[in-house]
This record gives sequence, C-alpha cells and structure tokens, in this order.
Amino acid sequence: MPSRGNGVTALLDNLSLRDDTREADLPYVDLLSLVGETNRCPGGKRTVLSIARRLGIGRDTKVLEIGSNTGFTSTELVKITGCTAVGVDVNPAAVAQSEMMRKSLVDSIGDRMRFHVADAASLPFEDDSFDVIVCGGANTFIQEREAAFQEYARVLRPYGFVSVTNLYYRRRPDQALQDDLRDVLGFSVPALGVEEWLEILAPAAWEMYDLKLSELAVRADHVLDAYVAELCSPERLGHIDEEQRRQVSAQWHRVMSVFNRNNAHLGFMELTLRNQEPGDEEQPELFLMPGVYDPYFEKAFVGMND
Ligand SMILES: C[S@@+](CC[C@H](N)C(=O)[O-])C[C@H]1O[C@@H](n2cnc3c(N)ncnc32)[C@H](O)[C@@H]1O
Repeated sequence: MPSRGNGVTALLDNLSLRDDTREADLPYVDLLSLVGETNRCPGGKRTVLSIARRLGIGRDTKVLEIGSNTGFTSTELVKITGCTAVGVDVNPAAVAQSEMMRKSLVDSIGDRMRFHVADAASLPFEDDSFDVIVCGGANTFIQEREAAFQEYARVLRPYGFVSVTNLYYRRRPDQALQDDLRDVLGFSVPALGVEEWLEILAPAAWEMYDLKLSELAVRADHVLDAYVAELCSPERLGHIDEEQRRQVSAQWHRVMSVFNRNNAHLGFMELTLRNQEPGDEEQPELFLMPGVYDPYFEKAFVGMND
C-alpha cells in the first residue's frame, strides 16, 4: 500500500465531518493526496518517453524538472534514459512524498535523482547547471512566470531545451461543464485554446523550436469504474474504514466523470523551446514538412489549415 505520510490524519479528521451531501466533499487536493494519485502529465509515461526522445535525453544529460509534484516524470526519465534529474516544487508535502518514493527505489535509479523545495522564480542552482528543463503543467500555476523563464535561461546551458507539456481546449466547453469542473476542483479553469496558451508559455526571448499537439481520449464508463475501483481498493486505502472509503470512492468517481466529459474538449501540447543566446537571430525555415508548426510566417501547422 502506498504510504501517505502524516497528512493523512488531518485529512481523515476532515472526512469524519462529512455527511452524504456533495457540499461536504473533501477539497480536491486533499482527495488527490488521500487516493495517492501520482499526478502524471497528460499522456502519462508515453509522453515522458516522447520528451526523452524529442530532447535527446541520455545517460549524460542533467535534467531539471519544474513543478515535479510527486516525482513521476523525473523518475520515469531516469528509468528510461539513466539521466540524472533534479525535481523542484513549492509544495513541501509533494517534495517529501517524492523523496520518500525515491529512497524506496533501487539505488541505480534513486541515486540519480533528488527533489527539493524551491520556487521556479528563484532557483537555488548555479548558472548553466542543466542540459534540459522539463515542465509539465506547472507554468500555468506559477505567478511570477516572467521571473521563472529568466531563471530557466540562467540555469540552462546555452541552446538547451525546455519542454513544456500543457493542456489546452480544442473546443470550448459549455457553461454547465465549466461549472461542474469548478465544483469538483474548487477553482475555475480558464478555457484557453492553443494560440492563447502559446502567448503565455512561449515568451518572445525563446526560440519556439517545435510544437506537437495530441488529443485526449474519452474512456468508456466501465474503464472509469475500474480505474476508480483500482485507486480506491481496500488494499490501497486499507488505512481508512469502510464507510470513509465508500465516500472517497464516490467523490473520486464524480471527479473522474467530470474530467472524462472534459477530455472530449481537451488536447495537450508538447512545446519545445530553445535557450537562445543574446543577439541570436534564428533564420526561419522555408522548407517544412506538413504537420510541423511554423512559428515564423503562418503561426499554424503547415499544410493542415484547409
Ligand atoms: C499540475 S502539477 C504538475 C504535475 C506534473 N509535474 C505534471 O507533469 O503534470 C503543478 C505543480 O507545480 C507546482 N508549482 C506551482 N507553482 C510553482 C512554483 N512557483 N515553483 C515550483 N513549482 C510550482 C505545484 O505545487 C504542483 O505540484
């Protein structure tokens, strides 16, 4: 059974106050923590493999992950490539959980990574310390985003890549779905499309090297049921009593059902930025294959707009 640390007691206090109304649901972050979901980037381990290949990450590559949360992406990168990885997150509980997980791994993997509490806008690393930076979803939460990108440029080697994985809306969700999402998350999610996210996530000082878009699949009801049953099984949630487990399971099912409806509208981007040197003027490409994003002339995917 995954260990959940000392926070569980406080969560259970909260849970014991609940009745059967939806108003009494646990806050979403507490629910995540109790269920022990690993907080994966969209596409999960296949996206991590895609990042490793796209960025050419190998055994000699020093990776920095921003917003590492429970450490899934860094761990997968080390497992896949044998690279070294440092994950940072502002959430001390998430970092403690990552470090606990790291220490439980075989030395050949666990010794190649570390997790630290740090803010992306003020990184505790020397200049040119890393070959690549990987960021899944965290940039959207970072308040001082401009300062964070300056820090990425500082700690990254010249011409190093930053990989940003981020959800976007392929089509706008209706108001009812937006309301349901806000209810289960406890905060509103901006319904932004890919162009709007690029304005935010690809600052002008960085070369937009590549952009890949993927859709998210909507899973069948029986898959959703099985996923909830797996994460809320007595084996995984054996530390809470049967009635509490039933409540957690019901809430998790409601959350996952809303997410699944939302997935019909969502896609995710794998954005690759390159750390330009001051004074660099990258010459635009003229000869491109269809399906590649042209950031210079068309600001669109070549040959895919008709
Ligand atoms: C959506 S999670 C990312 C999870 C996972 N890395 C992924 O690939 O989806 C966002 C994470 O960013 C962290 N975060 C938010 N602001 C941050 C900041 N200023 N510096 C570092 N991490 C931050 C949050 O604590 C959270 O763990």
